[in-house]
Order: sequence, then C-alpha cells, then structure tokens
Amino acid sequence: MPDLKLILEKIEPSPEEKERVHKLASELIRIINQEAHNQDIPAKAILVGSVAKGTRLAGKADVDIFITFPLSCSEDYLKVKGLELGHHCIEKMGSAYEERYASHPYVTGFIDGYLVDFVPCYKISSGSELKSAVDRTVLHTKYIKAHLKPVQRGEVLLLKRFMQVVGCYGSEFKVGGFPGYLAELLILNYGTFIRVLEAAAREWMPGYQVDLEGHGTAGFFQDPLVVVDPVDGKRNVAAALTMQKMADFVVAASHYLKNPSQDFFFKKKEEVDLDQLKKDFLSRGTVVLILTFPSPTIPEDALYPQITKTEQSLVNILKRAGFRLWGSDSACYQAQVFMILELEVHTLPHLKRHYGPQVWNRVHSESFQKKYQPHCWVEDDTWVALIPREHNTAQSLLKHVISPEGICHLRTGRHLKDQLLENYQLKPLTDFLEEKNLNPQVLIWLHHYLHRNEFSGDIY
Ligand code: CTP
Ligand code: MG
Repeated sequence: MPDLKLILEKIEPSPEEKERVHKLASELIRIINQEAHNQDIPAKAILVGSVAKGTRLAGKADVDIFITFPLSCSEDYLKVKGLELGHHCIEKMGSAYEERYASHPYVTGFIDGYLVDFVPCYKISSGSELKSAVDRTVLHTKYIKAHLKPVQRGEVLLLKRFMQVVGCYGSEFKVGGFPGYLAELLILNYGTFIRVLEAAAREWMPGYQVDLEGHGTAGFFQDPLVVVDPVDGKRNVAAALTMQKMADFVVAASHYLKNPSQDFFFKKKEEVDLDQLKKDFLSRGTVVLILTFPSPTIPEDALYPQITKTEQSLVNILKRAGFRLWGSDSACYQAQVFMILELEVHTLPHLKRHYGPQVWNRVHSESFQKKYQPHCWVEDDTWVALIPREHNTAQSLLKHVISPEGICHLRTGRHLKDQLLENYQLKPLTDFLEEKNLNPQVLIWLHHYLHRNEFSGDIY
C-alpha cells in the first residue's frame, strides 16, 4: 500500500512554487485592473481555476485569469475590451500573446514559465444569468472554495494525478476524460480519493448520477456519467467524458483497490524497443497500414474531432467494401497526423457477390438476368450475380478514396481534406518502421495500440 501522504508531498506544489504563482497572478490582475481604471472600462480581473481553488498539481503551469464585465455591457464590447486588456497585460510583462477561441475568444500568453489564459466573461451571480459557457467558471471557483475542506485539496490532487497517469484526465477532445472541476465535485460527493475509487469500481454504471445540490435534473442527460453542475442544473459536468474513458477509470480503480501501487501515480518511463514492436505486430498475423499527413495549424480541440471523424469514415469505407477491421487509432505529433488501420487480410477476391431482386418480382428479375447472364443464379429465392470488385486490396481502395475522384466518399472534417489529398503517405507498418528518425512518441503510441490495458497517460 503506497503511503498517500508521501505521494501527496511529491505532487503538491511547494510553498515557494505556490507563492510564486500567486504573486504572478496578483501582478497580472493589478495590471489589468489598473488599465481598466485608466481607460474607464468597467472590468475587473479575478483569479479562477485550480490556482484559485488550491487544487493545482505541481508542474502544471496554467493560470486562469477571467476578466469580468457587468451584464449591462454588450457582447461586442466585452470581447473587444477584454481581449485588449489581455493583450496589454501580456505585452507589459514582455511576452507575446496568442488569440484563441473557446465558446468565445480569449488570449493566452507564456509569462514567467506559466501559460496564462485571459478570458473575458460576464460577472454573474447565479447560473440563470449565464450568457456563455465561460461565465460559469467564476461560480465554479466560488463553489469549490466554499465547499472543499482544506484537507480535501490533497484528495483532489491524488485523484487528478491518478486520472492523469491512467490517461483519463482532461475534457479536451483529444482525451475525452474528466475535467479538473469534475474531480473536485467527485471528492465533494464521496469525501476522499479512495472513496471515489470504491464508488467507481463497485457502483458506477452507464447513466450513474450525482446531484450534489439536488437540482433534480440528472434524468435530462443521456451521457455515460451524469454529474449535475451544482451552480447550473442545466449542465452535466461530465458531458465530455466518453464511455471508453469512464470504463478505463472504473477498471483502473478496481485494479488499484486490489493491488495499490505507486505506479498509479508515477508511471515508469516508457521506452519502446523497435525490434520488439515489429515482432509484436508480426505475431498478430494481421495487415497493418499507416496513413500519415501533415496536420493543419488549428487548435487541438478543433483538430481531434476531425481526425476521429476521418478515421471513422475510412474504417466504414473499408468495412463496406468487405474488409474486416481488427482496429484503428489516430494521433497527432509534431504537426503530423498518424493513423493506424489494422485489417484481417489485405487482398479480397477479384469478384464479389452482388444481390439482386427476389424471383417473385418478375420485372426486376428479367432485367437482372439480362444484365448479368451468364454469371447469375438464384439462392433460396433471391438472384445473385458475380461482379468484378473495383478495388481488391485495402491499399488500392484507400488510394482511390484519397484521390480527387474518390474523396467525395470520405467524411474528412473540413480542415483535413487538402492536406490529406496533397500530402498523404500510406504504407504497410513494416515499411513505416524502417523509416529513419521515427518520433519516439509515435512508437509509444503504437506500443499502446498493442497494449491497451496499460496506462496511456503521458505523465511519468
Ligand atoms: N471548465 C469547465 N468545464 C470544462 C473545462 C473547464 O467548467 N470541461 C471550467 C472550470 O470551472 C475550470 C475552469 O474552466 O475550473 C478552468 O479550466 P481548466 O484550467 O481546464 O481547469 P482547472 O480547474 O483550472 O484544473 P487544472 O488544474 O487542470 O488547470
Ligand atoms: Mg486551470
């Protein structure tokens, strides 16, 4: 049984680190409020997110500062002035800013080693006044500060760290896991880290409900896990959690309870042996293809749904053409998209069976026979013909689909289409693994494809 106190000491920011980040946050807030005052803008910056709640893990260097405006301001005014104040502050700190887009725009800067988000929002006092999704964050911060006991902050950190290591922390599309606020609410609901694991391992089922404030709205949601937002009954905090990640967490929780170990908090560094990887793939006796193409420069949260959509569409096209899929996966590393498609066989017969009408349908029976004679016959009461298969290898089918003539059959996500058409490569895995300078992250990704029961978090 690992000593959770010792683990906590390692994952909690040191008092110096805490002081440094709070000092920085106060300075940024002071600059914004001063500038707002100078320009007569009725805005007030406040610290939100895990830094404000005391639930930030050591080494997680993101600071969330929200610039709040009264409800009487127009949305355009809020956006323009909010972004301006953010720009001003980042520039004053000698850094460069980058504009981003969530449900509305915000600005990010890398300041003194911290990634700081400046998000303009409305100052609301209850969920009913909500104008955009980000407005809730201030209420979340207040709620957690008011309800989470100081000792429970450590419990949150243990839970977040556990989720990171097993690969299900973060609500971004790339992960589809538990957001930090959800980890906090789970600790509020169950009390401790271990009790969250016990509930997950023993009780959780699809549709499981948690409703801390008794809003009574849990039944309105269709998601795998429902945790009603205490500050807004109309929102499920677990909306982004996929069935896969909920199940992964349940399995990891039951493994930990049976066999508690440090490894659930500190993953051993993964080094993939290329020869072993080749052998492991070969021993499956399947056909493995790797598709790669450059990724467009768009935010990850816009990119990942498009990659997944493309992967799913390729899988469907292969299946419809008669290929059996063993599995598929995709990822993006260093502006390059990688997709793995694993098939049972590479080549199908040159001909395929084509089903026609039933013999009772005299008119269509006649025309079917005319068209396909002498290569047609009746099975049971249905006409069948043998016709040539257009693409009898997976590679030729995929090449056709990723060509100007065939791309109309593929659902790619709009930012991927051009890159895919112009710059794709499709190779058997064996050839791909012969390439020089393979990115080690790609090898780890392939290793995880083969070993799905291992923790997939990229934290060590
Ligand atoms: N938020 C949310 N739902 C999400 C993501 C974020 O409601 N799916 C809100 C929460 O109020 C959260 C805030 O946005 O506190 C900031 O988001 P983020 O930085 O992702 O979460 P933190 O709580 O700050 O946790 P972390 O330690 O991971 O930064
Ligand atoms: Mg944060």
